[in-house]
Amino acid sequence: MSESKPPFIPVCEPTLGETERRYVADAMETGWISSAGAYLDRFEKDFAPKVGAHYGVATCNGTTALHLALKALGVGPGDEVILPSFTMIASANAVLYCGATPVFVDATSDTWTLNVEQLEQARTSRTKALMTVTIYGHPSDFDAVKSFCNQHQIAWLEDAAEGHGAEYKKTPLAALPDATAYSFFANKIISTGEGGMVCTNRSEIADQLRFLKNLAFPLKGPRNYVHTAVGFNYRMTNLQAALGCAQTERMHELVEMRRTNAHYYSQQLSASGLEELLQLPVEKPWAKNCYWMYGVVLKRDVKKSRDEIMITLKEKGVDTRPFFFPMHLQPILKSGQSLPVSENLGQRGFYLPSSSHLKRDQMDRVVESLKQVLR
Ligand SMILES: Cc1ncc(COP(=O)(O)O)c(C=O)c1O
Repeated sequence: MSESKPPFIPVCEPTLGETERRYVADAMETGWISSAGAYLDRFEKDFAPKVGAHYGVATCNGTTALHLALKALGVGPGDEVILPSFTMIASANAVLYCGATPVFVDATSDTWTLNVEQLEQARTSRTKALMTVTIYGHPSDFDAVKSFCNQHQIAWLEDAAEGHGAEYKKTPLAALPDATAYSFFANKIISTGEGGMVCTNRSEIADQLRFLKNLAFPLKGPRNYVHTAVGFNYRMTNLQAALGCAQTERMHELVEMRRTNAHYYSQQLSASGLEELLQLPVEKPWAKNCYWMYGVVLKRDVKKSRDEIMITLKEKGVDTRPFFFPMHLQPILKSGQSLPVSENLGQRGFYLPSSSHLKRDQMDRVVESLKQVLR
């Protein structure tokens, strides 16, 4: 008889409950299933203050939120935008959609976020904006970024697709940048299936976002189908927003579940002696890491390849994902740079099952499987 396989532990699943079901059913019953409706207004009003912003403008996904934000900040052809190479492709694509040029800087080896020491070197007379990215839940060094942007009058967009609930010096992330973009994809801490939001404290940016996201229909006055700008249909639906409202009601709980799980992983991995072989995620004294995903990086003396390790873990029923492949090496973006920290993360990093509702016995099995594979 063949041995029975252990239950599969997926890398991430959304945490959905009865309120989510009720709100979506309610949205359907009202008939408001497109891009207007009470849940949309409420979602923007509920979510934005939770991340430190006065205004929230919902979009159909995180990629469109980034594109819209760059457009609202005035980024266009001929401009350059500085951003970390170690990020997800959507960050760089948003720059390309504007006809602008992405300029990459390396990551720091502990937080995996952009290395602020390299900003000055990356700046030219064409630098229009800087994009920070909260990587796997850890924010960037915002003080350094803020003074760089202020000094050189550079617009600042934060890509917080992975940063729900993260903080810088006890301040929610969207309080400081000119605009902050969120994703609500199914693996995000707060999810609407697909979805995004740009949050800002500047009313003129919020107006521009609302104008551009809705095909540049005028914000006020009669709908005469006369357009003064090239806008986009980046609208979120009321059905998605219904999910978002339910998720936002328990945002604190969902973030704390992620954090509690991350602390448990770190504790168990250290106790198993695996810290000798794996670099674990950090939380700088000035940061609140929301631990969107619990990432680890193989140390140099681990001879097995990352990919081999991930395949063996999968055979044991433990699902993982590789870290992002750096932007400066992407076939569509090859910049000819050498950014060794990003390259190392891209080759040796992967993340473990990280659903908010993960159970301790599942995490114990992940740690035990890692022990067997690495020893
Ligand atoms: C850092 C980062 N930026 C942007 C995005 C894009 O978000 P979406 O998938 O909602 O378009 C993601 C999605 O995973 C991301 O991780």
